Amino acid sequence: MGSITDDKRNLIIVSNRLPLSVKRVKGAFEPSLSSGGLVTSLSGLTKSTKFQWFGWPGIEVKDPNEREDVQKSLEKHNAVPIFLDSSLAHEHYNGFSNRILWPILHYQSGVVFDETPWQAYRRVNELFADAIAETAESGTLIWVHDYHLMLLPELLRDRLKQQGKSCAIGFSLHTPFPAGDFWRNLPVRKHLIEGMLSSDLIGFHTDEYKQNFIDTCASLLSKARTEIPNQIQYKNRLVCIDKFVVGIDPQKFTDTLQRPDVQERIQSFKERYKGIKVIVGVDRLDHIKGLTQKLKGFDAFLDDHPELQNKVVLIQVAVPSREDVKEYQDLETELCTIAGKINGKHATPEGTPLLYMHRSVPFNELTALYSVADVCLLTSTRDGMNLVAFEYVACQQERHGVLVLSEFAGAASFMTNGSIPFHPANKTEMSESIFNALNLDPAERKAKYDYLRSFVNTNTSAKWGETFIERLSRRCRGLGTSC
Ligand code: ADP
Ligand code: G6P
Repeated sequence: MGSITDDKRNLIIVSNRLPLSVKRVKGAFEPSLSSGGLVTSLSGLTKSTKFQWFGWPGIEVKDPNEREDVQKSLEKHNAVPIFLDSSLAHEHYNGFSNRILWPILHYQSGVVFDETPWQAYRRVNELFADAIAETAESGTLIWVHDYHLMLLPELLRDRLKQQGKSCAIGFSLHTPFPAGDFWRNLPVRKHLIEGMLSSDLIGFHTDEYKQNFIDTCASLLSKARTEIPNQIQYKNRLVCIDKFVVGIDPQKFTDTLQRPDVQERIQSFKERYKGIKVIVGVDRLDHIKGLTQKLKGFDAFLDDHPELQNKVVLIQVAVPSREDVKEYQDLETELCTIAGKINGKHATPEGTPLLYMHRSVPFNELTALYSVADVCLLTSTRDGMNLVAFEYVACQQERHGVLVLSEFAGAASFMTNGSIPFHPANKTEMSESIFNALNLDPAERKAKYDYLRSFVNTNTSAKWGETFIERLSRRCRGLGTSC
């Protein structure tokens, strides 16, 4: 990177989720790796770029000595905790971010707005703004991430101005941005848009999300000028809007696959599943991942193909997520029921067709699993990008496995040519897509795989981050009078 990011004080990344989440285990603090696409993409940037990463540690810590312990445990990862009291964090994270905003961003209907969580959301954004403004110096690049912090750019700009500091502010959204009419479901939609528009540069994962945002600004804010592509003029400021293709660090997966313990694990999987086709799914347990649709589609596939009894298995990892939110608890119960029914109907003394795991799987195990699977099945009903699709590709150099990918994942905007796309609400189509994937001839499989591999190797997390930071730093240096 250019000199602007050579000194870690000069780039601040802000997200609600830090790369490590802290838990209290038997009285001591234990950091564990966070999961999710945001952490994966930003972690992939650490090799090439230095930064300080501010966020919520995931736990309430009141005692100043204990706060120091937590700070120290995060310091070696350049992570800086912003402490929140538990009821405020609960209302911000579970109440507004994940029960109200997240579903609307993913086109889920029936969301009920509530004032208390909204006030908590505002307050947490203010507390983040206080902490960042205090640390930033003039010239610092500040890159804010995701839906938990949409008000932050505006609150931060006000504070920096009061303190006589001049900093460039970037914002990246890791979810879809819905079409304008759906965004209307949110009574506070205008505040959030205005909050984001205090950034100098705003990044989305796809052209569709970017355009939805620009159209929403044009219809919601009478003073917003959007005639020039990728620019919004608002309140005498120029805001640049663009698509930045996020990715993973593919090298991390290819290196892991070389490890003797991982090779051993791969060998044992191969023996265990000899003569059996393996389909893998890895998803946070979330409505947007279409897990009920996936299990029902797999059930339809087993019904359609009795000749494949005992010859195919779906290994589904459902990573626990947002477990304090009622909708997520209900989904977990529903999935257990469906999984039980599928195995009740299709299991034989020789085996069960579905291995449903509701737990987090260590990285090495995940890599081995990706590597032995003939097919990866991803059924998102909406999804910002879906980096699991990229990870599966990174682990399939030898096998050229097939990606069966919902047309509603952001990744489908780039990967349709190399995958088998389908509509997740249509279980007949899903069943046919699984069958086609398992029976694709080797030449077509290789052609599809080569396409995906080239895309994953080209669009890495490092490239995504460096491109965004370079654009932001150009604006900071005053070179970006246009976008
Ligand atoms: P989302 O961001 O909605 O969770 P993505 O598919 O984009 O969806 O990203 C999920 C990320 O979480 C992937 O990089 C995946 O490897 C990672 N992941 C899955 N399981 C674990 C785990 N047990 N620990 C850490 N990361 C995990
Ligand atoms: C998605 C969101 C991220 C979030 C991740 C995991 O990728 O875009 O902001 O960090 O899910 O969810 P969690 O609620 O555990 O942070």
